[in-house]
Amino acid sequence: MDKLIKIETIFSPTSVDELGMRGKNVVIIDVLRASTTICTALQNGAREIIPTADIENATKIWSNLSPDSRLLGGERAGKMIDGFNLGNSPTEYTPEKVGGKTIVFTTTNGAGTVYKCRYASNALIGTFVNLSAVVQTMVNIGGSWTILCSGRQGSFSMEDAACAGMIIQKARDASDLETDDAGKTAVVLFRSFRGNILNILKRSEHGRYLISIGFAHDLEVCASVDSVPVVPGVDGSGIKLNQNNLVVNG
Ligand code: MLT
Repeated sequence: MDKLIKIETIFSPTSVDELGMRGKNVVIIDVLRASTTICTALQNGAREIIPTADIENATKIWSNLSPDSRLLGGERAGKMIDGFNLGNSPTEYTPEKVGGKTIVFTTTNGAGTVYKCRYASNALIGTFVNLSAVVQTMVNIGGSWTILCSGRQGSFSMEDAACAGMIIQKARDASDLETDDAGKTAVVLFRSFRGNILNILKRSEHGRYLISIGFAHDLEVCASVDSVPVVPGVDGSGIKLNQNNLVVNG
């Protein structure tokens, strides 16, 4: 008999904090673009990603790391931060640039949301590019899960909610599943686009903003389902590849 999975969905991280997420199984989504960039960096050989909400803290952590293996990455208003090595376009995180490196990473929404989940039992980074691998990990572990959308400036974002909907739909195909009204709404939203994920991203507020500042190609990269089939997991203060789909902190 299939395992029962229960999934709750939270559309914005503003209502959650570190203590509330402690001990939970969480999937953190920031489709545009932090989740996609994290998956890409780790697939391309980055050793670890250290997420932090603010630039000052990122620089402080970076300054304590070994100079030959550290990078500073992230964005504000979608653009590379002055003095950083990398922005937040997944296309920048090539094997040549990130192989073997520890990347201290700060972004407007996604990195801070991940940081809030550092005491979770299992905190996985999920998005369209690694969707099936994340669902498989959830099903393997079973139990109760929270899908936490990073949203945009504390508000709802359509692309994160639709990704939550696709995760729930796929998990339902693979197991017995119970979900809340937010999860059911996410599934309805996802289905309303009839599988055209690029269209979801193009019509979203943040997608339109990224196009306006020259990152139209990133939307195609972020819409490519299962193109980066890795499962990054938060392990202490860093994000690493969750190679064996093991329970990390629990
Ligand atoms: C974020 O964390 O707010 C995003 O990843 C922003 C972006 O598209 O760079």
